[in-house]
Amino acid sequence: MTARLLIAWLGFSWSSVCAQQIVTIHSPNGAVAVSVRQGDAGAVSYQIQYRNKPVITPSGLGFVLNKPKLTLNRFDIVSVDSSRTDETWKPVWGEVSQIRNHYRELLVGLQDKSGSGVGLRVRFRVFDDGVGFRYEFAPQKALTHFIVADELTQFTLSADHQMFWMPGDYDSNEYHYNKTRLSEVDALAAASREKDIALKSVIGPNAVQTPLLLKTADGLYISLYEAALLNYPVMHLQLDKQALRLTAQLVPDAVGNKAYLQTPHNGGPAQTPWRTVIVSDKATDLLASKLILNLNEPSTIADPSWIRPQKFVGMWWEMHIGKATWEKAGGKHGANTRNVKKYIDFAARHGFDGVLVEGWNEGWEDWFGNWKEEVFDFVTPYPDYNLDSLTAYAQQKGVRLIMHHETSGSVTNYERRMDAAFAFMVKQGINTVKTGYVGPIIPRGEHHDGQWMVNHYQRVAQKAAQYKLMVDSHESAHPTGLHRTYPNWMASEAARGSEFNNAPTLGIAPEHTTILPFTRLMGGPMDFTPGLFRFKLNQFDSTRTQAVRTTLAKQLALYVTLYSPLQMAADLPENYEKHLDAFQFIRDVPVDWDDTRILAAEPGDYVMIARKEKGAANWYVGAITDENSRDLLLDLSFLESGQTYEAVLYRDAPTADWKTNPEAYIIEKKAVTAKTKLMLHLAKGGGCAVQLVRK
Ligand code: NOJ
Ligand code: CA
Repeated sequence: MTARLLIAWLGFSWSSVCAQQIVTIHSPNGAVAVSVRQGDAGAVSYQIQYRNKPVITPSGLGFVLNKPKLTLNRFDIVSVDSSRTDETWKPVWGEVSQIRNHYRELLVGLQDKSGSGVGLRVRFRVFDDGVGFRYEFAPQKALTHFIVADELTQFTLSADHQMFWMPGDYDSNEYHYNKTRLSEVDALAAASREKDIALKSVIGPNAVQTPLLLKTADGLYISLYEAALLNYPVMHLQLDKQALRLTAQLVPDAVGNKAYLQTPHNGGPAQTPWRTVIVSDKATDLLASKLILNLNEPSTIADPSWIRPQKFVGMWWEMHIGKATWEKAGGKHGANTRNVKKYIDFAARHGFDGVLVEGWNEGWEDWFGNWKEEVFDFVTPYPDYNLDSLTAYAQQKGVRLIMHHETSGSVTNYERRMDAAFAFMVKQGINTVKTGYVGPIIPRGEHHDGQWMVNHYQRVAQKAAQYKLMVDSHESAHPTGLHRTYPNWMASEAARGSEFNNAPTLGIAPEHTTILPFTRLMGGPMDFTPGLFRFKLNQFDSTRTQAVRTTLAKQLALYVTLYSPLQMAADLPENYEKHLDAFQFIRDVPVDWDDTRILAAEPGDYVMIARKEKGAANWYVGAITDENSRDLLLDLSFLESGQTYEAVLYRDAPTADWKTNPEAYIIEKKAVTAKTKLMLHLAKGGGCAVQLVRK
């Protein structure tokens, strides 16, 4: 191959214009282009275009280090390499049974111009739906142990776009999303509206979290995020409203440093997570993107046969709405043997895999507020909770208990006790743990989103895998596709989940679940805990005047629109027993899929998704809307042609309305084929769930 042909095949070009070096690489189909440019003084910038429209205009790269004291922002480009990859891999579980990983790669070698002798590389992967890039520090004498004071990565925008954002916060990602132009962001005002978040570390008026969703006036949807967040803090973004620029704002540790790195790291380079820019002119394409997963490393678990997607019920919501308590003191202890047996019976009767039990272990009397180091030991059940007998009972009924480990932020304590706790679970035949990190992190001063905690979450996933345990983490950092590498880390919360329906002030706005797929879910499955069937929350406590802002049909649709291999049916058995006909959908809906089609979506407005059951011919559709009612046309052409399916529609009744009549639903059956088109009417705050069973 001649050099020219080789360059065309690899899809990149290198030119020198007016003493500037410019390297450009295109994605396999040419839609996405990245250019890296070295200016006169050595500043290196990159830019991204999508079908010739600007996505990221020239934006800087680099670092400030604390040790050695060094600013890395002037470089010589010393090498440029490229390659291409086109492979297909199968996730252990997921939205689709196989994933194509198809990109062109550009590896740019940079040498610090100041004479420090420090070199680094920036690796760009250019996909048809976006770009990932990361920094790599190869083992080198000039840089063995080093401390990152700041990352200088910028994302400069071409205009004052619409953004869906939440305040940058070192400890919480449980906010609503705000929709404003970049220039209108007021993160402090947004944060102060959210009175129900217990622990906030808001960065400042102009800092926002990622994933950040942007919508441009010329019709592009852009997601800024990160992939493979390992051994590094979470990246938030600082806005410069004049310059329309966002700059990486890494989460600091207790003394203000951002990251402690070393070379070699695990025998290779020290590296940052991937910075990702996903882009399309169709909102639906963003939701179908597999870019984040593709940028993560393959599974580290050789035999994943013990990892099972599952649905569960649990001793949980009754504590949140005041029927019972986590603590034993006070006489309303929920996790007592008799009560948990009821849940096991209910789970067995309706075909659920698991029963989550919170408040089973000693320590809840003083877990919140005093933030002590020694609260829970994770192996001592309350005396009224006979775990041995419940384990046997559950086993006999074909159900597994799910263990809860609330650490109350005392992570040093949890790390010391993790082996004993996991061995205890194995002894009890329990294979799933829900972890939680409510409260300030001990050692004091670390943040939920800092490097120290990011390393902790990884250690939990790795250690749990040694014990063949599946993990569902709450209050952890936002997920970045690590479920490819650690498929036993099934889900996390890391956003405002259904528990906030019970919060006294803002609750969950109807549009929230139409934004989540475009933001939080870009990184991985969420334990949102849908399935509430009773919307007035004063069932056991008359002071709870708040109501869930949804219709019942929408709660069903969320099982399809909010993908997770771990799905809870969150409400109480007695509330499901009043609507067993609607509950049938939760019983039937799978948690693992062969295929997924994003049929219609607009962030903040509506989402309609169809998914095909793993290993079966049946499809399920979920359609949800915000506070507005709307009609969505469901075109069933994704069904196998020539086949007849029975469609069971769980839909809002004509009179349904999240404010005035949320429980009004209709269940309707009809024969359909690939030629059928159904007009789905979604009530205000409503939704529709459809089961399609091949005859
Ligand atoms: C917050 C979690 O998100 C919730 O699910 C749990 O019940 C409480 N913490 C208590 O651990
Ligand atoms: Ca939470």
